[in-house]
Amino acid sequence: MSTSSTKRRRIGLLTGGGDAPGLNGIIEATVRALAPMNLEIVGICDGFEGIYDGRCIPLDVERVRGAHNFAGTLLGTSNKSGTKGRESEFAQALAKLQLEGLIAAGGDGTFEGLSRVLNGGQNLRLIGVPKTIDNDLQGTDVTFGFDTACAVVAESVDALRATAEAHRRVIVVETMGRTAGWIALGGGLASYADVILIPERPYDPEALKQHLLKLRASGRRGAMVVIGEGAHAKGGKPRVAFHVAGSPQSERLGGVAEELARWVERETQWEARHVVLGHLQRSRHPTTTDRFITAAMGVEVARMVSENQWGQAVVVRDGRVTRAPLTDLMKPARLIDTDHRWVKLAQALGLFI
Ligand code: F6P
Repeated sequence: MSTSSTKRRRIGLLTGGGDAPGLNGIIEATVRALAPMNLEIVGICDGFEGIYDGRCIPLDVERVRGAHNFAGTLLGTSNKSGTKGRESEFAQALAKLQLEGLIAAGGDGTFEGLSRVLNGGQNLRLIGVPKTIDNDLQGTDVTFGFDTACAVVAESVDALRATAEAHRRVIVVETMGRTAGWIALGGGLASYADVILIPERPYDPEALKQHLLKLRASGRRGAMVVIGEGAHAKGGKPRVAFHVAGSPQSERLGGVAEELARWVERETQWEARHVVLGHLQRSRHPTTTDRFITAAMGVEVARMVSENQWGQAVVVRDGRVTRAPLTDLMKPARLIDTDHRWVKLAQALGLFI
């Protein structure tokens, strides 16, 4: 009887960029659906950093069971290191991991970084899973994490309305989203915020002032304003709070809610406060919608591995999870059309946008 065992095929799983609720769902669903194939599945720790350092952990069903319920990522992630200028170091580190293929859940920074290595001639067998709470990736109709982020915004606006009205105040709530206003618009709409300001539609300060004055004159005690972190007045530009050295996208935006609250007090004499929701938007347990998306994506990823279909992404199109070229995810951010149906919906509800 032979004692030699056949080496199992080795697949890597990586989560890169800012975390998004649902990443653990992708990990659990993928590992569960791959289980019948008896592969060796390794999780790369901390995104690209784990590739550079060769750090990974074994993944099996027992290790991932129940993870879907939690935000964050059990593998860790990082949005601080890219591959620019380090292409050959990255390619060598990756080769050392001896992977048959890599499943990467990430955003534009992750795919841009991996494509740099791919373009460098590496024969990397990759399956891409689009991820960002910002919902601004091209190639997919929606990204998981976005619905959960909107839920945080809507729940916060609905809760803050009580104190705003108790004190006769305007409360300005700042959301994430950088150049795209999806979270501000989705969360603002779901909570019927009185004002929704998004980067794609620079606002007219005079029109905003008149809207607030009219609300107060109508007897309203409080008003809720939702502003995306990249929103600005006509002729203005996004407010950069600080830079993260080495990050593929080094600018971090912020500070617009506080600035706007002071402006509201000055211009309307309506007392104002501000709240920055920040990373709470990334840390809530995933909504059912996000769980359905990640379960279906994980199962599709496993099918692609079993069919040996690498070099593609799983995406959501017309309400279904399907496959698309990886390059579809590497295009400029997917912004909100200025006359998008959600914009029209907000207008029809009498909200300022
Ligand atoms: O891309 C996701 C995102 O959450 C942006 O909306 C936000 O501007 C940024 O990440 C914040 O990044 P960090 O976690 O580095 O503060």
